[in-house]
Amino acid sequence: MTHAHITSWLITIVLFLIAVSMARRGAGKAKVVQMVLRLFYLITLATGLMLLHGITTISPLYWLKALAGLWVIGAMEMVLAAEKKGKRTVAGWTQWIVALVVTLFLGLMLPLGFDLF
Ligand code: HEM
Repeated sequence: MTHAHITSWLITIVLFLIAVSMARRGAGKAKVVQMVLRLFYLITLATGLMLLHGITTISPLYWLKALAGLWVIGAMEMVLAAEKKGKRTVAGWTQWIVALVVTLFLGLMLPLGFDLF
């Protein structure tokens, strides 16, 4: 399940970057990419919840990791919404980077899958 989760959020990040560049260019297909991106939010959420479900003794760090993951998704939506309205995207990007760093750190620190830190 960790591999499904990792594959899913990696695809999510790539799709997000593609969606942003397409939205900037005003490409007609931007909407389609954004729809697929939203599907991958759900897959990431589902695989994350399955990981949580499989853990017998959940430490608060797992909840924090899950919340940070949700924050990454929220920040991506903020950036895309601001991009669409032609507003400044700095707040969204800052949150995205902070949330992503926190999520990756907590994910790689916690014992499932890779345990880097
Ligand atoms: C884009 C968003 C997300 C990113 C970048 C992300 C990233 C990661 C990473 C790097 C790991 C560690 C994998 C490993 O060690 O092999 C992980 C594990 C995990 N993720 Fe996520 N995740 C995201 C979203 C979510 C969501 C939405 C949830 C739950 C609702 C969630 C729950 C978990 C759980 C429970 C683990 C297991 C922790 C462990 O390694 O022991 N994640 N995630």
